Amino acid sequence: MAEAYIKGIGTYAPQRVMTNFDWEKVLDTSNEWILQRTGIRERRIAAPEEVTSDLGAQAARDAMEAAGVSPGDIDLLICATASPDTLLPSTACWMQPKLGLEGKPAFDISAACSGFAYGLTIAEQFVKAGKCNNVLVVGAEMLSRMMDWEDRSICVLLGDGAGAAVVSSEGDGGRILGSRLHADGTYAELLWMPAGGTRMPASHETVEKKLHYYTMKGNELFKIAVKSMADVTRELLEELGMEDEGIDWIIPHQANVRILQSLARRLRVPWERVVVNIERYGNTSAASVPLAWKEALSQGKIQRGDRLLLVTFGGGLTWSAVLVEW
Ligand code: COA
Repeated sequence: MAEAYIKGIGTYAPQRVMTNFDWEKVLDTSNEWILQRTGIRERRIAAPEEVTSDLGAQAARDAMEAAGVSPGDIDLLICATASPDTLLPSTACWMQPKLGLEGKPAFDISAACSGFAYGLTIAEQFVKAGKCNNVLVVGAEMLSRMMDWEDRSICVLLGDGAGAAVVSSEGDGGRILGSRLHADGTYAELLWMPAGGTRMPASHETVEKKLHYYTMKGNELFKIAVKSMADVTRELLEELGMEDEGIDWIIPHQANVRILQSLARRLRVPWERVVVNIERYGNTSAASVPLAWKEALSQGKIQRGDRLLLVTFGGGLTWSAVLVEW
């Protein structure tokens, strides 16, 4: 069967930095609480004139440049987002003309923080089936517009950003070795936005009750996150006939540094081998894995041939693992 390769990765982070000390000024919270409980020091906040598809388009251009491909080479655009420009049409459709991809198929996927790994896995199938030569997968989020800035249980955790990858039928590295996806909708209400869909259409009452914002049961999610990310990794390694020792780097979804520490212990991977940049970006949902990945590449940490475990967890609940040989 044909192979699929990650040919290039791109990112974009908005200019404005918002620190924990900035949150202290407007909310009953502290730098100490946020840093100790989550590992976050600061996050990026998009400019008023930006929308999610702008962030995604910047990251997509960066990924195409890194891959050495032009818009004419791209066969399909997939956007993973939990903070779309609009519910209709998709953010991928808003992004498409910004990238000169008019006429090419484009769609969104809704898998929250697992969206980028879900997107890579979908792209992998199109490439391996011979339907596409180059698929652009974008994870773009503007969570600052989906959260209640007065709800300290969630707003201090989130940030804005975007990442992208070109998944290609050809490459001299970056081969996708395997992937596993999971979801369990019985936990949907642990992280959700109650109103704005068919369950509860927008009304004066939904706005007054602040039902158009994300709401989260953080400590319940915490326990499930560690177990599910460890389990999906073991499943994938078993399928590939590999042991934990086969992982050179974990590039995880950046939700909480304590979740990542527990995960590293469970998988017996040394902490220095976990790519962590939550300190500077917070939780950027579908953008977090490519933001961490590109940063580790720029820092020269990742060498050709290293095996990279991308592992995610998020609303849905969704969780997934992808293994890449760089
Ligand atoms: N600043 C100060 N205090 C805060 C606070 C904030 N921003 N947010 C909550 N608190 C308070 C709570 O009110 C509570 O106070 P109480 O003990 O007086 O009732 C106390 O801190 C502990 O709250 P709790 O929610 O139990 O904290 P925690 O240790 O579980 O940390 C999270 C909260 C959200 C950081 C943590 O649960 C987490 O990261 N969960 C996973 C998030 C996740 O994975 N998200 C989705 C996947 S993408």
